[in-house]
Amino acid sequence: MESDVDQPPKMLTRNYFLLLLMGCVLVLAIISLQFLNLIPLTPLEEEQQVPPDGGFQVSLIKSRKRVFPAPHDLKPDPVSEAYGYCNTPNHTEQAWEGHSPADYKLLSVQVMIRHGDRYPLYFIPKTKRPAINCTLSTSKSPSHPLLKTFIGHMRQGGRGHWDSTLSSIPRVPNHSACETGELTQTGVVQHLRNGQLLHHAYKRRSFLSSDWSPRQVWVETTSKARTLQSGLAFLYGFLPQFDWSKLTVRHQWSTLFCGSECDCPARGKYLEEEQKRQYRLRVSDAELEKTYAQMAKTLGVPTRQLRAANPVDSLLCHLCHNISFPCVAAGDGGPKDCLKTDQFAVIRRQQLDDEADRRKAGLYRKYAVLAMHPYLNQTANRMERVARDGEAAFSVSSAHDVTVAPLLSALGLEEARFPRFAARIVFEMWKSPPATQKQVRKRGGNAKAKDGQLFVRVLYDGEDVTFHTPFCRPRGRQNAPPLCPLNNFLSFVRRDMFSVVNATSYKEACYRRPA
Ligand SMILES: *[C@@H]1O[C@H](CO)[C@@H](O)[C@H](O)[C@H]1NC(C)=O
Ligand SMILES: *[C@@H]1O[C@H](CO)[C@@H](O)[C@H](O)[C@H]1NC(C)=O
Ligand SMILES: *[C@@H]1O[C@H](CO)[C@@H](O)[C@H](O)[C@H]1NC(C)=O
Ligand SMILES: *[C@@H]1O[C@H](CO)[C@@H](O)[C@H](O)[C@H]1NC(C)=O
Ligand SMILES: *[C@@H]1O[C@H](CO)[C@@H](O)[C@H](O)[C@H]1NC(C)=O
Ligand SMILES: *[C@@H]1O[C@H](CO)[C@@H](O)[C@H](O)[C@H]1NC(C)=O
Repeated sequence: MESDVDQPPKMLTRNYFLLLLMGCVLVLAIISLQFLNLIPLTPLEEEQQVPPDGGFQVSLIKSRKRVFPAPHDLKPDPVSEAYGYCNTPNHTEQAWEGHSPADYKLLSVQVMIRHGDRYPLYFIPKTKRPAINCTLSTSKSPSHPLLKTFIGHMRQGGRGHWDSTLSSIPRVPNHSACETGELTQTGVVQHLRNGQLLHHAYKRRSFLSSDWSPRQVWVETTSKARTLQSGLAFLYGFLPQFDWSKLTVRHQWSTLFCGSECDCPARGKYLEEEQKRQYRLRVSDAELEKTYAQMAKTLGVPTRQLRAANPVDSLLCHLCHNISFPCVAAGDGGPKDCLKTDQFAVIRRQQLDDEADRRKAGLYRKYAVLAMHPYLNQTANRMERVARDGEAAFSVSSAHDVTVAPLLSALGLEEARFPRFAARIVFEMWKSPPATQKQVRKRGGNAKAKDGQLFVRVLYDGEDVTFHTPFCRPRGRQNAPPLCPLNNFLSFVRRDMFSVVNATSYKEACYRRPA
């Protein structure tokens, strides 16, 4: 036997080699399947990841049902999906913000919000605009327990510090016939609720003390009234009766919140290609074209004019406010002709198809990575600063769908639903307690190992989506961390996110000559 091993016949060597090779291939296949997350995680595994505090990992299971469409709903009903987009504040919501092991310390919270419910930006020709009163009043529905004091507090806004572009913008919606794009009372209530949810979520973690310093709270917004007002409502819900004199409200001129790093020629190129894709898909949709023609005929306008009036925007407002779809009087006093729910459903169906096609084409993700790097870079920088200084910090960036949608895509959360009114993305940074003497000895007495370690959580509309991001996918039983290490996020933002555009830095990706 031994001689066989020392000097094996040729035949045996080859078989042995083949067997070895097959073994390697099998091992590699299992590893890569796990890596790509193709092997479904059993519920047992997810249960085992539950840390002492309990509960927060469980949200991973639930989140698949809510912010991600369930596998069986590949074709969601476009009308009920639209109700989800309205985000009507008529029921309490679960929020998983602030969940972590009990002895971890919350150091930083950074929030990006989409403004709340607004009046349409487009109007359907030949029809009456939806009758909505944008003046705030506690006697109107929906209301909120904080609404009354919020209105009073906003009157004192002159005591705050404002970037000059913002100082002349009204701090609450205040037109009895809403203006184009104006935030409605529903929109204000949505953000009072969001802020209050976080207030409760973080109160028990004693996150910001009541005598917070101006360095600890950062508020930034675009110069649209609806984002400014949404940001203030959110802040008021989070810090009721906040001290105006400590607050500075900053202006972001770009909807991408890219500050001084907005130059990126390649970004526009990807966006242009994406828009071409979107156009091709739309014009190839015969049912959609037929529907537009039908609606235009009802209204007595050219189809082109109706399409340009983006009727879905106005119809969504009707739907969200329970106002029946617009009608036009028939010429001879006969029955009125109205736009129909089926027509609305066709337009929404096409929008959902477009989202699916967009994910498949991958152009939007490339755009999104370049669009949102500066914001993510800033988010990462703030976390590092807080980690260094140890002073807790809170920030809110009040933005638009064209901000939140690319942020989701850049984070690899492509399957998540389109940002609804008052959507929110939250980045939390946590520190574990310092290791005990015994643990330090076990790790070889390294002094550095004594410090607590830093972790991030990412939440979308209250659901924990951390483990859906490419920088923190669970990789199997042993090495699945209870939370996502901050370093994973830092290397994603500073290098790994650019792999989508075959680059290793923002500069390289933005300025590379086309091949
Ligand atoms: C809230 O309102 C939406 C319509 O906007 C409706 O579909 C839903 O059933 C309502 N939920 C509750 C709990 O009333
Ligand atoms: C709303 O506008 C009216 C007049 O346009 C003004 O009298 C009132 O003080 C405003 N209210 C607030 C809260 O700004
Ligand atoms: C709009 O609502 C405000 C507050 O409820 C009310 O005072 C005002 O009369 C309303 N305006 C119209 C035109 O209905
Ligand atoms: C919507 O309006 C109709 C009447 O137009 C009413 O019967 C219904 O209760 C309203 N629904 C909600 C959710 O307010
Ligand atoms: C990213 O942050 C660093 C600071 O750590 C800064 O020097 C750099 O300019 C930022 N880059 C971009 C593209 O935002
Ligand atoms: C990616 O970039 C490298 C170096 O810049 C280049 O050699 C390679 O061909 C690129 N790959 C693709 C698929 O574009």
